[in-house]
Amino acid sequence: MALDPLRRRILRAGVRDYRSLVDCDVRLAPLSVLMGPNGCGKSSFLDALGFVAEAARGSLTDPLRRRGSFREVVTRGRPFPASFSIGLDLALAEGRAEYRLTIGSGDGVHSFVERERCTLWDKADRMLDNFEVSRGSLVEATMPDPPEPVPDRLYLSDQGGRDRFREVRDFLAGMAFYRLDPEAMGRVQPSERETRLGRDGGNIAAVLAALETDDPELRRRIEEDLVAYLPGVAGVAVRPAGPDLVLEFTERWGDGRASEKRFYGRDVSDGTLQMLGLLTALYQGGPNDRRPSLVGFEEPENALHPTALGALVEALNYASHRVQVLATTHSVELLDQYEVPAESLLAVSRDGDRTQIGRLHESCRDAIRDHRFTAGQLLRMGAVEPEPHGDDLRAL
Ligand SMILES: Nc1ncnc2c1ncn2[C@@H]1O[C@H](COP(=O)(O)OP(=O)(O)O)[C@@H](O)[C@H]1O
Ligand SMILES: [Mg+2]
Repeated sequence: MALDPLRRRILRAGVRDYRSLVDCDVRLAPLSVLMGPNGCGKSSFLDALGFVAEAARGSLTDPLRRRGSFREVVTRGRPFPASFSIGLDLALAEGRAEYRLTIGSGDGVHSFVERERCTLWDKADRMLDNFEVSRGSLVEATMPDPPEPVPDRLYLSDQGGRDRFREVRDFLAGMAFYRLDPEAMGRVQPSERETRLGRDGGNIAAVLAALETDDPELRRRIEEDLVAYLPGVAGVAVRPAGPDLVLEFTERWGDGRASEKRFYGRDVSDGTLQMLGLLTALYQGGPNDRRPSLVGFEEPENALHPTALGALVEALNYASHRVQVLATTHSVELLDQYEVPAESLLAVSRDGDRTQIGRLHESCRDAIRDHRFTAGQLLRMGAVEPEPHGDDLRAL
């Protein structure tokens, strides 16, 4: 399979007053691994990006309701009216974009877009287009006939279909976040055509069935990787179960085909389902336009034996050439893999109520790069702290 250079990706993400992310500003690589102890704010960072993805697909109401309400999301203790902000710098196919979003509490029930700005530049860094919305009014717009803003929708999503902002909207709306659940993946599942794997992987059979027709080569690659990575696993198929679908795995623990046995998803190892879910999330979509723009995983190592973690890191690394990948982890075993690139590691820690995220100190990165220590060993030694970011990364 030819590797596409990863031309569209998040270069930098800033978050303000979102849960414990009071003031975070982070550069993201094609693969970024957020490492840190429980409760330090790793999931909150992914969730802030997930919020933007959901908001870019529709209104603010659903993404906020899914998280409880505005009050649950904004940093605790902020006096009302309050707001939170998320800023993203993106590399695009032919230039770059800056996107800034501030959501205001309103009366606590009817939250609204307090401020939203998007600016596009071409390859030569000439500004192409720009809009800015402030409290329901369009303050600036370089496009002809700009529509009026709607308070509970991103202006970007209403601009999205019409013009050059579409690439930004599609990128943001195309981000996909996972907390895979082996039990959900092993179950009998509805057979409606699905091309996007759901958050827990519970529609994986339909996604694999669609991939079989849309891009058989990619479907084969997922199976080949699964077989290569996991001992005893010889194949996976999607089978009808009445009107529904179910995964069926072939296992071969002895010599020769005679020793092959078949098992439905619910009867195989959680690790087998987890690995299949990871590979499917990474390779889903087939042709370019249906791929996610970014895939984020909550603790991808869950249910995997330590000996499978090298394969996991290899898969994340490989896939990050075609889709941006983010993962959270507190697993020392995962970080013991030398294949986690030093420049991909983001240390997450908590200073009182505040999350701090940053790349590792230079000396730690050197030690990992020179194979003197793994990130896991540094973590055990208590040597992992985020590097304080420079002033240039405080501007979002
Ligand atoms: N609205 C909020 N304001 C401030 N802190 C919050 C808010 N919501 C959650 N938190 C903090 O975030 C913690 C959970 O962070 P999380 O991102 O899930 O951690 P991790 O994924 O690193 O284990 C909670 O224990 C709580 O301390
Ligand atoms: Mg978490």
